[in-house]
Amino acid sequence: MKIIIDTDPGQDDAITILLALASPEIELLGVTTVAGNVSVGQTTANAIRTLDLAGRADIPVHAGAARPLVAAGVTAAHVHGATGFEGADLPPPSRSADKGHAVDFMIETIMRHEPGSITICAIGPLTNLALALRQAPAIVGRLARIVLMGGAFSEVGNISCAAEFNFFVDPHAAAIVCASGVPLTVIPLDVTHRLHTSVARLARFRALGNRIGNIVADWLTFEKRFEAEKYGTDGGPLHDPNTVAWLLAPDLYQGRMVNLRVETQGELTMGASVVDWWGIGDLPKNALFLRTVDADGVYELLFERLARLS
Ligand code: BDR
Ligand code: CA
Repeated sequence: MKIIIDTDPGQDDAITILLALASPEIELLGVTTVAGNVSVGQTTANAIRTLDLAGRADIPVHAGAARPLVAAGVTAAHVHGATGFEGADLPPPSRSADKGHAVDFMIETIMRHEPGSITICAIGPLTNLALALRQAPAIVGRLARIVLMGGAFSEVGNISCAAEFNFFVDPHAAAIVCASGVPLTVIPLDVTHRLHTSVARLARFRALGNRIGNIVADWLTFEKRFEAEKYGTDGGPLHDPNTVAWLLAPDLYQGRMVNLRVETQGELTMGASVVDWWGIGDLPKNALFLRTVDADGVYELLFERLARLS
């Protein structure tokens, strides 16, 4: 399956890219970057550093939006560190980004391929995707699916009391994507908060026997320091890799089709996911919203795949 990863690396974003590269079922057509965890300059450098790690200089990287559509923009340097990659010591990027804006790359790539052949894996704020949908509405009928990490139902919020980070940073973009009509799979905090980066799991990454296993363990050890304390769990959550894991092994997840909208007006609730889980409104079901996960199964998949990278 052909995918584009739209991302703001971020340690968990980088692990998502590595999981895709380690999986022969997936053809990664390109990586597009957006401001989110850190600035777009830094997320672009980090995307290239991730591809460098896997020896994949052949995969294009296109830099995208430097700020949200309307909102002021916030980062998550308090979670991911000033570079977005704190925890592991990586060399600087081997190259600059490819020419052309991320939004143009997305549109051109989607329009050039067979209808229904491309899936977007969106693991940062949804600014690029919203811009692409506005600029070229024809992509709606050409995409197979958007699989995104964002939102929350019972876990509610991780950057504000009411909202998950990716939706909060660019709520207007998230609202556009949710209303787009493209088949949508949503992986919210309800899932990602079940995937604790426990001490035992970090040890399994270290035991993979390759450089990447150690780097992944170092990255997650850094994130865990902040989040395990915050949530009182054995390790922090693991967010973005669930998008690619769902594409590879959907049976590890359960959810249901719901109507999903994103709050763009609320003073206290900006970016909140409004999920009609109980079918209260007579509203169109626009998203497969996942709620539960076989956490051990996802980690086994990660161990098995990342071990393949030299
Ligand atoms: C999301 O926010 C970012 O910090 C992570 O990379 C993930 O995409 C989780 O709320
Ligand atoms: Ca991310």
